[in-house]
Amino acid sequence: MPTDRIIQIGTGEKIKTLDTVAYILKKLMEMEADRTIFILGIGGGIVCDVAGFVASIYLRGVRFGFVSTTLLSQVDASVGGKNGVNFEGYKNMVGVFNQPDFIICDPVFLKTLPEKELQNGCAEIVKHAAIADPDLFTYLETHYKEILQLERDVIEKVVYESVKIKSEVVNRDEKEKGERRRLNFGHTIGHAIEKVTGSAHGEAISVGMCAAAKISEKRGLLLDEDRARIERILGNLKLPVQISADRERLLDAMTRDKKREGDRIHFVLLNGIGNAVVEEILIKELEAILMD
Ligand SMILES: NC(=O)c1ccc[n+]([C@@H]2O[C@H](COP(=O)([O-])OP(=O)(O)OC[C@H]3O[C@@H](n4cnc5c(N)ncnc54)[C@H](O)[C@@H]3O)[C@@H](O)[C@H]2O)c1
Repeated sequence: MPTDRIIQIGTGEKIKTLDTVAYILKKLMEMEADRTIFILGIGGGIVCDVAGFVASIYLRGVRFGFVSTTLLSQVDASVGGKNGVNFEGYKNMVGVFNQPDFIICDPVFLKTLPEKELQNGCAEIVKHAAIADPDLFTYLETHYKEILQLERDVIEKVVYESVKIKSEVVNRDEKEKGERRRLNFGHTIGHAIEKVTGSAHGEAISVGMCAAAKISEKRGLLLDEDRARIERILGNLKLPVQISADRERLLDAMTRDKKREGDRIHFVLLNGIGNAVVEEILIKELEAILMD
């Protein structure tokens, strides 16, 4: 590809803004790009989210696709049609639902990925297995070493199965009116942990999943041994199962979550491994568990 057709952006959430979108739109205009162009986002979740958004609004929409280069974007961010940017300090406040023509997920890209980034993807893979696929969960339990060593066949399988789970959920509920909420397993508490402690996404979600599993057990939905399996696989994938954080601040961050409705919150629980259910839970119940 001629280098004057490549637009580079920086890294980090700070770059995922409308300013970056404006910068790219300007570059496209300078290139005199018309409706026949194809925008290819090559990078992690940030590049995919921004590229998909630009492609959705430039000239009222042009075709686009992704080459996902992080594990998290391969199993999660590039799948599902959500594109957008952060705004006024809030994540993903501005955006559109729009599906790319294709997504390429090649394990070869993952070889240069820092361990933290790999962990972010692993947490989402465990989430997909926990909410929808007990067989994948068992596979993760028996193949976690190969995953950490990035063995091609194993990585290919877990990425493929993960994408399948996410796309099946999205196909049934693209605009997140119901079933898509199941994908938030571990994320209500996880997002609060991320905000309060500044932990990496994967670490926060990992602890969030353990807490959600604990609540599921307390509600009689999940066996003690299955909760322990969740903690074990996360630990084996080098993810934390607990974190020290100010409980009051966590609760505060959580109850400001957009999923709150009055004195209760929509919360994803596990009715056994491989079967997520969305239930309303009282903020008081959450408080009691967090303070436990
Ligand atoms: N649209 C969605 O449905 C959805 C879902 C989940 C997450 N997201 C978004 O995805 C973003 C996070 O994505 P991410 O975790 O991929 O982060 P990222 O895009 O910031 O990439 C992480 C880091 O890895 C680097 N990198 C990318 N590919 C690499 C490679 N092959 N080798 C070495 N380094 C590489 C990047 O430059 C960056 O520094 C967040 O903004 C989040 O909101 C979107």
